[in-house]
Order: sequence, then structure tokens, then C-alpha cells
Amino acid sequence: MPATTDRTDVAPRVTSRIARKAWREVSRPIRRMLDRETVAPPSLPKPYLTGEGASIAGFHPQQATVETAALPLVQRLVRESSRFPGPIIEIGTLLGVTTTHMALAKAPEQKIITVDLYCWNPWGLPPAVHEALTSQVLAYLVATGHVERISMDKDEFFRTYQGPPPAMVFLDAIHDYPETKKDVEWARRVGAQIISGHDYCDEFPGVKQIVDECGGPRELSASVWVL
Ligand SMILES: C[S@@+](CC[C@H](N)C(=O)[O-])C[C@H]1O[C@@H](n2cnc3c(N)ncnc32)[C@H](O)[C@@H]1O
Repeated sequence: MPATTDRTDVAPRVTSRIARKAWREVSRPIRRMLDRETVAPPSLPKPYLTGEGASIAGFHPQQATVETAALPLVQRLVRESSRFPGPIIEIGTLLGVTTTHMALAKAPEQKIITVDLYCWNPWGLPPAVHEALTSQVLAYLVATGHVERISMDKDEFFRTYQGPPPAMVFLDAIHDYPETKKDVEWARRVGAQIISGHDYCDEFPGVKQIVDECGGPRELSASVWVL
């Protein structure tokens, strides 16, 4: 005997099939969104951004120059240096921000030579990126001959410098005692008229020690010192 189809059995099955289909359609965009979120996790930071003490997080351009309060002293020293022949030499360019502040105060005929090996920056930028950025920051001043940007180890620069006695040096590379001592001794040896630098502060006792051994800062503004 053929099985009979009871209409009351079929109706709920059809209704639930339609309901499932409707749910699939309605929920498709939400399911796609959730899938996307789980498929593409955010990529991890590159190792050079997680190196000790180096981070682009919290970047602020003020980290790339001396304290704002010290700029008037730097610029006054630059103006004073125009009485002497010879270049202004900055050891430690970083991004060229202080270089630019010095260029704004210098006499038109004065030249700034700025030296950096691009071996350190506070943001963990790789050396080539660091140098490319500095090169762009200083592009106008270099193209117009106001600034010469030298990519070199400072010791090599000291060893090979053949120019006239500098009108001013600004020492701002490695802030420990032996390195700052070397910088000051070179500046004295080549007859620099004004010897100045950055980071005479408790954070860098080596800078304080050598500056004090040389008679202490004649002037100090924030942590910019001048002998
Ligand atoms: C504190 S930053 C200079 C800041 C810069 N004078 C300013 O005020 O904008 C120190 C710089 O010294 C450079 N440096 C460190 N050791 C060096 C070396 N042996 N020779 C040349 N440059 C060096 C680093 O690459 C870095 O750019």
C-alpha cells in the first residue's frame, strides 16, 4: 500500500527550508566580515622597530633637535661665529633640524659642514632610510651650497679634515666621556673658535665630565653648552 503524504507533515519542513535559506542570505555579509577578520590578522612590527630603545611610536619632531629653549643660544653662537673665517662644523646631523636652525642664523657666505654616519636614530629607522630622510630634509640647503652633508664616521672625518680652522663646532654625536673628549680635543687641535655641543645634563655624565674638565660651560641653555 503506497505511503500517503500527510500535508500537515510537509508544511513545517518546507517552512524551515525557506527560513534557513532566508537566514543564509541575510547573514552572508556578516559572515563574510567575520571571515575576513579572522583570515587577515594585522602584521607584526618589523624587528628593527622593536629593537631596544628604538620606536617610531610616539614620534615627535622635537626629538630630532635640541631643546626649543636652547635655540636662541645656538643661533647667537652662529651669528658670533661669522666674525671668523672657516666653516661651522656639526658632528651628528640626525635629520638636519638643528643644521637648518643654524643655517637660518648664519651669514650668507658661511658654510655648514654636517657629519653623520647614520648609525643611530631614536626611531629605529634603518641607516639607509635615515640617511635618505636627512638628505631630503637638507636638499634645499645642500643644493644651494649653504650646507655640505658628509656621510662618514666622525673619527675618519677628524683624521682627514684639511680645511681651515672652523669658526664654530657643534658636537652632538656620541654622548659618553671618551667620545666627547675626542670631539673636544679635535676641535681644539684644529683651532675651532667656538666649541659648543649638546646634552650637558645628568642623563649624560660623560659630557658633563669632559666639559667641566675643560673649565665648565661658559654658557648653558637647557643642555646646550659652550666652552
Ligand atoms: C643626537 S643625534 C644628533 C642630533 C642633531 N645634532 C640635532 O640636534 O638635530 C646623534 C647623531 O650622531 C650620529 N653618530 C653616532 N655615532 C657617530 C659616529 N661615530 N660618526 C658620525 N656620526 C655618528 C648618529 O647617527 C646620530 O644621527
